[in-house]
Amino acid sequence: MAALTTDQFHVAGELRVPGDKSISHRALIAATLAEGRSRVRGILESADVHSTAGVLRALGAGIPPLESSIEIHGLGLHGLRAPDADLDCGNSGTSARLLSGVVAGAGLTARFVGDASLSRRPMKRVKVPLEQMGARLDLPPHGGLPMTVFGAKLHDIDWSSEIASAQVKSCILLAALTAGVEATVREPARSRDHTERMLAAMGAEVWTNDEAVLLFPTTKLDALDLDVPGDPSSAAFFAGLATLAGSGELLLRHVGVNETRTGFFAALREMGASIDLQESVRESGEWVADLNVAGGGALRGVTIGEEAIPTLIDELPLLACIAAYAAGETRVTGAAELRVKESDRIAAVVGNLRELGADAEELPDGFVVRGTRPTLRGRVTTHGDHRLAMAFGVLGALPGNEIAVDDPDCVSVSYPGFWSDLERVTS
Ligand code: S3P
Repeated sequence: MAALTTDQFHVAGELRVPGDKSISHRALIAATLAEGRSRVRGILESADVHSTAGVLRALGAGIPPLESSIEIHGLGLHGLRAPDADLDCGNSGTSARLLSGVVAGAGLTARFVGDASLSRRPMKRVKVPLEQMGARLDLPPHGGLPMTVFGAKLHDIDWSSEIASAQVKSCILLAALTAGVEATVREPARSRDHTERMLAAMGAEVWTNDEAVLLFPTTKLDALDLDVPGDPSSAAFFAGLATLAGSGELLLRHVGVNETRTGFFAALREMGASIDLQESVRESGEWVADLNVAGGGALRGVTIGEEAIPTLIDELPLLACIAAYAAGETRVTGAAELRVKESDRIAAVVGNLRELGADAEELPDGFVVRGTRPTLRGRVTTHGDHRLAMAFGVLGALPGNEIAVDDPDCVSVSYPGFWSDLERVTS
């Protein structure tokens, strides 16, 4: 089959995408639990990270307004206090799950609430291990929020998780950290490891291998001094865009390239894209690099299975969108977790692609997209899901496509400046 590229479309320039969302949440939490003054530069100033900051403030932390360089005076591992009101996590699953571990380990009682999307998302995955450690969690019958955590004196845990989830893993590690007990977490595939890297950089004793992480009881965390890398999940939109271009290059500066996060770039390369890693350096325990992405390549479909899913879980809606312009079939399986993200991302991405004129099909645990290089027209229903808005925003930038996104502002959850950055590199 002939190679497909979007010939008349050119990209040029360079971009520094905002700070990593996962690392930003963890930096606020870890700095709060540390001794002394931590410094964090380049934190992501987005709605989700504001949710974590707000919850930590309600627990007594001195988190300043988020800006490009902040200092946090840590409370130590035992300095949190019970909140006076509900802890509002907004749209942020990471806030709800990680902070439920912190609250449980600190022996506090608190009620977590969130927006309609977060309130539907499964919390039993943190309830079961935290209860095995000795806490109690009350959930409504549907298993989402509001969730009340009743902290208690926790004990050691050796937990084998059925799903590869960094949120569950981090919840357990943070509960063990604040309770001063030992935790082992085993996963079917390795999820992002930012929590364990950060805690190790702050002096905690953490052992890891491909299947498990073990955190030993810790009495104190050193202060953090961190430059937050650019978020690979945000850079992905621009890497995808450049890959679809008929010509030109985009330089994406200071992107986190931790190998538990780079599955999307690997998939794009397998599809035929040209992505060059330059200036790879290690900063505060995380690898960071500049990515040079060139257009003009001939894209072909790709097959992604269960093992790789955690490394590109948040990029799968974008991959589905790009696959519409790659010769042949793209097949993703082992990704049932997509159904319980900010929206049911399998139904939402396939439904929208079909509605616009692409050839896509749902699988129970993934999707199939056949690359027909379609001209896409219509309105995208995002269900308030930031990653859907941005994935279809990329397709909307291709000449000939006419795509309206129903809720463009929902990108504020992870990338408030997305639309202006998109405009900048395509005009
Ligand atoms: C995240 C982990 C992933 C990811 C989410 C952020 C984190 O979720 O999808 O956007 O910061 O730990 P799961 O761990 O539930 O797969």
